Amino acid sequence: MKSEILSHLPGAYPWKEQLHWFDSLGSTNDHIRALAKAGAPAGTAVLADHQTAGHGRRGRSFHSPEGVGVYLSLLLRPDCPPARLMHLTCAVAVAMCDAVEASAGFRPAIKWTNDLVSGKRKLGGILTEIGFNQKGNVDWAIIGVGINCCQTESDFPGEIRDMAGSLSMIAQSPIDRAKVAAAMLAQLQSMSEKLLDQKEELLNQYRADCMTLGQDVVLVRGDEKRYGHALDIDESGALLVRFADGRLEAVSSGEISVRGMYGYV
Ligand code: BTN
Repeated sequence: MKSEILSHLPGAYPWKEQLHWFDSLGSTNDHIRALAKAGAPAGTAVLADHQTAGHGRRGRSFHSPEGVGVYLSLLLRPDCPPARLMHLTCAVAVAMCDAVEASAGFRPAIKWTNDLVSGKRKLGGILTEIGFNQKGNVDWAIIGVGINCCQTESDFPGEIRDMAGSLSMIAQSPIDRAKVAAAMLAQLQSMSEKLLDQKEELLNQYRADCMTLGQDVVLVRGDEKRYGHALDIDESGALLVRFADGRLEAVSSGEISVRGMYGYV
């Protein structure tokens, strides 16, 4: 698989020597975090055919069976204050829409903040993490992405079967995982060159791809539910929501999950 991925990467891809493939790992993010702390260079990438403990935010698990998905983590080392990376997850989401479009022939949408979707189905998710140096600047940034590529509906566990999907289900054709993985790496590498100085362009593309905007949404925090209308994304990637009482608030992704009125999207 590693050689197939390498064969699909553009000639100018600068990080070919830093690609690590594993048949199975707990989590590619956990593995690359240890490499980052041990001094691995920017551009280090870890991919696994199967994850036994793939996860998203707040400890949610990410179903990562072998042979059907791409589970990838990439290490960046942007030398900047963390405030300049607030839009990182948004920039990654746009790069992943570009990668799917290039390798599977359709452009998914983004469910704020970090889910790739098509219609009512989630195709993948993004988990970014940042570590700091002693001066409080960014020491490492990890980009973790999982994309379901080849599953059929019955391959998903019952509890997510109605809301999960794969690239092949949407494209209605077989999907080459090596091609998808190479497109993801190539798009992330080119995104990394724009990340700090083309923030507004990246956010404008995010707004165009984000299906949450213009929707009535339910914000769920623990047992609390609040109803509002999603209006825009601010420069930090927060969702601007007009609530029923007329108040406009910027909602950041931390502890809140956002759903459409009638289901997951
Ligand atoms: C989410 O759905 O909320 C985010 C899921 C992120 C999953 C990817 S798979 C590769 C990397 N390793 C992990 O453990 N998580 C990310």
